[in-house]
Amino acid sequence: MPTALPPGAEVLADADAVAREAAARLLAACAEAPAERVAVCLSGGSTPKRLYRLLAGPDYADRLPWARIHWFFGDDRAVPWDDPRSNVHMVCEAFGPDAPIPASHLHAIPADHGAEAAAEAYDRTLRAFYGADRLDPARPLFDLVLLGLGEDGHTASLFPGKPALDAGDALAVAVPEAGLEPFVPRVTLTFPALASARRTLFLVTGAGKRAPLARLAGGEDLPAGRLRSAGTVAWLLDAAAAA
Ligand code: 6PG
Repeated sequence: MPTALPPGAEVLADADAVAREAAARLLAACAEAPAERVAVCLSGGSTPKRLYRLLAGPDYADRLPWARIHWFFGDDRAVPWDDPRSNVHMVCEAFGPDAPIPASHLHAIPADHGAEAAAEAYDRTLRAFYGADRLDPARPLFDLVLLGLGEDGHTASLFPGKPALDAGDALAVAVPEAGLEPFVPRVTLTFPALASARRTLFLVTGAGKRAPLARLAGGEDLPAGRLRSAGTVAWLLDAAAAA
């Protein structure tokens, strides 16, 4: 019995097709960005690696307006950037050494002084980039937010039952206890920050995501289902996840 899928879900053949569709939508977000700068919020985890490699590869590298794009992180593990658990480490490895990203355009979450200090610093970074302390729904912070879905229904590092779910004013908060591997302190953007986006794309692949998708479809209150974006929200699933 196929499960109902999230609203705006598109099922594609496999993970490569999901990456290619996500790349096309990122290009569209760049083309539609009203400002010279384009703000993209990257997802961590393993699913988006394929997309990041594709963007830096021969099919897309010459099509991205690299000099306009600012790359942010929806969350990170509070570990040094050279730690293989770091999302910065994953993103830099996936983009590779030749991706023409100006150093000042990669806004990584600092991790040297612990999750609390990193969250406070990143909150300041986001507000400084935005140019105001309060987010205006009519002027989203991000042109595109990429998100994943954890097997427990988390997204970014917003885990079920954790205080970060209700962090109303902050744009970034510390998550002292992660709800899933790796069990290291995290820093995550909050729902208000993630919701301040023109476009949001959930990238969900693999049979392991059938269960959280089914729980979401069944109406269970999971973090990934709590996002109320100012813009459009789409889910790109591969057949294995959507079966
Ligand atoms: C992280 C991610 C996290 C991820 C999901 C899915 O830091 O791990 O931000 O939210 O998107 O856990 O991870 P996979 O893509 O590895 O399944």
